[in-house]
Amino acid sequence: MATKRGARAVAREVADLRPLGWSALAAVLALLALSGCSDEGAEPMAPDPDPEPVVVSFAADIQPIFDANCVGCHGAGGSGGLDLRASATPGSLVNVAASGYAGSRVVPGDPHVSVLYLKIEGDASTGARMPFGGAALSPALRTLIHDWIEQGAPDN
Ligand code: HEC
Repeated sequence: MATKRGARAVAREVADLRPLGWSALAAVLALLALSGCSDEGAEPMAPDPDPEPVVVSFAADIQPIFDANCVGCHGAGGSGGLDLRASATPGSLVNVAASGYAGSRVVPGDPHVSVLYLKIEGDASTGARMPFGGAALSPALRTLIHDWIEQGAPDN
């Protein structure tokens, strides 16, 4: 029968090819090992699946940013009615309506609707970027403020 003959022919061909197949496989494996493309090679670059959360401290991380960059204009009776001195914060920020914009200065848990964060990012919805007329805060400092708000804007 044609089918049986066909199957035998295929079996013969597979047998004939097997030596080549194994050596080809060995060559591919050797190339992978040499090129460092194996999964094991990529492992150190993989992100930590369970990173330790970094807790931002208001007193240690955030207030010093205000002291160095903001209190010159945001002291007693400060610009925009905002006092960023340690004696006033974070009470002058958290859940306090902004004087110049819709929404609150800091909405715990949500930096992207917090006027304070939008202003240091220079968002178009909140007028001039802060610090007013000066260089933007570094990405690292903006990330600290972002994370403090995202972590609930605690007075810690
Ligand atoms: C050179 C002066 C100056 C500096 C420095 C400055 N600001 Fe301002 N800030 C202003 C002025 C003027 C306004 C009011 C106009 C406006 O809203 O853009 C204001 C408004 C704000 C408001 C809006 C307050 C509200 O309730 O409407 C926030 C929030 C703010 N500043 C945050 C900051 C932060 C944070 C810093 C430091 C990183 C900073 N500012 C540094 C001058 C300054």
